[in-house]
Amino acid sequence: MKIAFVGKGGSGKTTLSSLFVRHLARTGAPVLAVDADINQHLGTAIGLSEPEAASLPSMGAHLPEIKEYLRGANPRIADAESMIKTTPPGSGSRLLRIAEDNPVYALCAREFRVDGAPLRLMATGAFTEADLGVACYHSKVGAVELVLNHLADGPGEYLAVDMTAGSDAFASGLFTRFDMTFLVAEPTRKGVSVYRQYKDYAADFDVNLRVVGNKVQGQDDVDYLREAVGEDLLAVFGQSDWVRRTEQGRAPRLDALEPENLAALDTLRAAVDASYPLRDWERYTRQMVRFHLRNAESWGNARTGTDLAGQVDPDFVLGEAVAMTA
Ligand SMILES: Nc1ncnc2c1ncn2[C@@H]1O[C@H](COP(=O)(O)OP(=O)(O)OP(=O)(O)O)[C@@H](O)[C@H]1O
Ligand SMILES: [Mg+2]
Repeated sequence: MKIAFVGKGGSGKTTLSSLFVRHLARTGAPVLAVDADINQHLGTAIGLSEPEAASLPSMGAHLPEIKEYLRGANPRIADAESMIKTTPPGSGSRLLRIAEDNPVYALCAREFRVDGAPLRLMATGAFTEADLGVACYHSKVGAVELVLNHLADGPGEYLAVDMTAGSDAFASGLFTRFDMTFLVAEPTRKGVSVYRQYKDYAADFDVNLRVVGNKVQGQDDVDYLREAVGEDLLAVFGQSDWVRRTEQGRAPRLDALEPENLAALDTLRAAVDASYPLRDWERYTRQMVRFHLRNAESWGNARTGTDLAGQVDPDFVLGEAVAMTA
């Protein structure tokens, strides 16, 4: 199951994605957490020390190897250089499973134990001064898009992405790649304005969007959110002393989180699990092809000197069964 956490800067995307993946891992579920934010903080939020978090490999730096592995023996993709972030898998491509070992995870992921449970973490990589142009941001996040487009995941296993703030994800197909998108919103006007923006895009692409209120301090806050987002409000997190203690470096165990916040984590998981029957691999594949053709025309063909439409395998549909026979 693929889950994104989006929302305004500072709303609590990193905090809630770290709590959510820890909650899943604690139950024994295979979990891959992905830090795709410009400010890379997911590692420390999960409980890694600064040196551990800093030692995470950068997916952006391994893009050529990721492409080389994923294209496998796909005859429609001549070489890794002509593979762009939206190049879809086809017959002969290699697919990824959440719980397996593969060269992409060996290069880009690290496994840690949190609350006694194993948890895999990948990160797009820190953004240096020179990176802060939009193009580089997109190439780093492009590694995540490639992974998602080659991932044959099933129920009971989870990949959760801590995304960048605002609407950057709309520029690519990335925001359509999830079974569930959690929009983290504080009960403020700015908090819900990002929701309205996302909601418009979401409607056009069948994005399954639910709002998670955060730093909620009372019934007035809940009422405010309910009024602003209606039925899309899934759960609320309170202002948390436990979260504050982690900020102070005291690293409490997850089972010491406030009961109402633990219950909210359960609600998130139940909503993700309940979304499985809505999954439509044909639509998922069709959308990636659509974004690929759009990218090919707008810059990909010119950059690679090839007609990238030829990379599309018209008979291929990604799916769990595909991975099992691969
Ligand atoms: N429920 C909560 N209770 C108390 N503090 C919280 C809560 N949620 C988040 N915070 C605090 O709010 C701050 C911002 O949270 P966080 O870093 O998770 O937001 P973000 O959306 O990831 O921000 P950015 O856009 O900068 O990545 C942090 O100091 C965090 O500890
Ligand atoms: Mg963050």
